[in-house]
Amino acid sequence: ASFLLLHGPNINLLGTREPSVYGYTTLAQINTELQAYAHEHGHQLSYLQSNAEYELIDRIHAARDEAIDFIIINPAAFTHTSVAIRDAILGVDIPFIEVHLSNVHKREPFRHHSYFSDVAVGVICGLGARGYLFALQSAIEQVKQHK
Ligand code: DQA
Repeated sequence: ASFLLLHGPNINLLGTREPSVYGYTTLAQINTELQAYAHEHGHQLSYLQSNAEYELIDRIHAARDEAIDFIIINPAAFTHTSVAIRDAILGVDIPFIEVHLSNVHKREPFRHHSYFSDVAVGVICGLGARGYLFALQSAIEQVKQHK
């Protein structure tokens, strides 16, 4: 199967950005680890990080043409603001898991609302970088069940 891993704004700073909140793992480490895991299990995984909303939207649109089976997304700050990314992901009708490194519910009230959670297959938050691997493991299971 084909998986797409998407990261929203400021995730490129991982490793140096507020490490007490987001940890020391870098974006490159996360991407490399997930891609390796996917390959080891006979799957494909591509990834994109962008600070621009339209790039994430365009990538989601392209995912449908590429027959991506499942998306793992950390929309980062766009979680709390972006009707447009929500609409894109609903528009292509590809199932997805929402991931956050931090436990957003323990943080400022403006982080408690997500434009994605009510339409996600599942949500993982507060487990740090490991959350992405858990999401991929679950996504692989889901894709197997639906094929
Ligand atoms: C985040 C949580 C968001 O509130 C924040 O804007 C981020 C990262 C997380 O992974 O914990 O940039 O999505």
